Amino acid sequence: MSEASRPNMTRPVSPSRRDFIKGSTALAIGSAVAGSLSLARSAHAAGDDEIKIALIGCGGRGTGAANQALSTAGKVKLIAMADAYQDRLEGSLKTLSKQENLKDKIDVPEDRKFVGFDAYQKALAAGPDLVILATPPGFRPIHFQAAVAANKHVFMEKPVATDAPGVRKVLAAAAEAKQKNLAVGVGLQRRHEIKYIETIKRLQDGAIGDIMTTRVYWNGSTPWVKSREPGQGEMDYQMRNWYYFTWICGDHIVEQHIHNMDVVNWLKGAYPIKANGMGGCQVRKGKDYGETFDHHAVEFEYADGSRMFSQCRHIPGCWNSVSEHAQGTKGSATISDATIQLDGKYGFAWHYSGKKPDPYQVEHDDLFASIRSGNPINEGESGAKSTMTAILGRMCTYSGKEIAWNDAINSEISLLPDQLSFEATPKSLPDASGLYQLAVPGLTKVV
Ligand SMILES: NC(=O)c1ccc[n+]([C@@H]2O[C@H](COP(=O)([O-])OP(=O)(O)OC[C@H]3O[C@@H](n4cnc5c(N)ncnc54)[C@H](O)[C@@H]3O)[C@@H](O)[C@H]2O)c1
Repeated sequence: MSEASRPNMTRPVSPSRRDFIKGSTALAIGSAVAGSLSLARSAHAAGDDEIKIALIGCGGRGTGAANQALSTAGKVKLIAMADAYQDRLEGSLKTLSKQENLKDKIDVPEDRKFVGFDAYQKALAAGPDLVILATPPGFRPIHFQAAVAANKHVFMEKPVATDAPGVRKVLAAAAEAKQKNLAVGVGLQRRHEIKYIETIKRLQDGAIGDIMTTRVYWNGSTPWVKSREPGQGEMDYQMRNWYYFTWICGDHIVEQHIHNMDVVNWLKGAYPIKANGMGGCQVRKGKDYGETFDHHAVEFEYADGSRMFSQCRHIPGCWNSVSEHAQGTKGSATISDATIQLDGKYGFAWHYSGKKPDPYQVEHDDLFASIRSGNPINEGESGAKSTMTAILGRMCTYSGKEIAWNDAINSEISLLPDQLSFEATPKSLPDASGLYQLAVPGLTKVV
């Protein structure tokens, strides 16, 4: 027997590429054998094994994310789908199946379609290597924790939670994923968008001096709303009209505006230490609009004393902007436009004018390439902390108080119903006229 073919009884056995992609070795590797992680990384430099995917949450974004995952380089197959509702699952499968370029990459027979609140568990058990988590964010911590426990690589949409207990759960599972060498992508696609990458790099290198102030906006109008159907149960109604219920959506400051706050956290390499803010529901009133505000304005403070001023609004007919800006000691930048201006100088000092590949595709290309290389990216912690930044902002606008990051992230207030089923009773219920109680600044307790 040659040296090469003799079983090695003393050295750790390097997991095969297939094992690495499967994630099954990840468990065997565990934290106790941390030294073998570098082996796992170096052993899989040219991965070409098939990556089997399960989609959990088959709505608009889940369908888009599945499309992007299936469009990455290398062998990929969608093998299972899960949704709370049959109609959403079937609609998504139909949309994906219509695409000529995906036709050999979809294999979801009847017995790998799962419906209901426990559908995610069945999809995890159906043999995927990677799961896409794209339900509304209230469920993300539960689904992410279960996916990591089952040794799956994960792509999860932002935000990754709607309350502080959920953020803590995601942080713990992201750390577990790191120990297991599992990939975790988070749908904050600006981090994979070339114009942002190039601008942030220059700002971090001091192009406008020390950054004292940033401004971020998501001012627009209401994305969609679903009216109550006759005889519809309360849980079913809140699930279908999820945008307007804080436990499931987070409010639009969390659901949308997280993108802009995340850019500043990324730029600063830090998270706010405290915040104060104001908000309310002035225009978007009525039975269909649940318990969320239609505007929030928050001032965040970072440890270096710099401030991030944030606005988000869902009121038609007003000034609209979805953008991020930085003011430094030597100049300013419109980060979202990839432009840098120096004080006292006319015109742009720099502007990104190169190619602009679709960041939704790039984030999946980066994630899948990292899995195949054996050096998986893990965006779980930054995704969770930017989610917490947005939740901190909401805590301030709902309560009217100044709130410290540490108090916010340690809050024990859980927004989720005690059970997750169509028979469960959400914590927020309509009054006799069908209206929901909104937070009242000065009175509402958030930590
Ligand atoms: N990164 C981005 O730019 C971007 C863009 C849009 C949406 N998103 C995010 O994607 C997520 C989904 O948004 P969407 O627009 O696709 O919403 P959607 O309503 O179209 O889809 C959500 C799907 O999840 C299903 N679902 C709800 N609860 C479930 C549960 N417990 N188990 C299984 N399925 C469940 C719904 O039935 C629905 O099919 C949100 O977190 C949203 O913030 C991100």
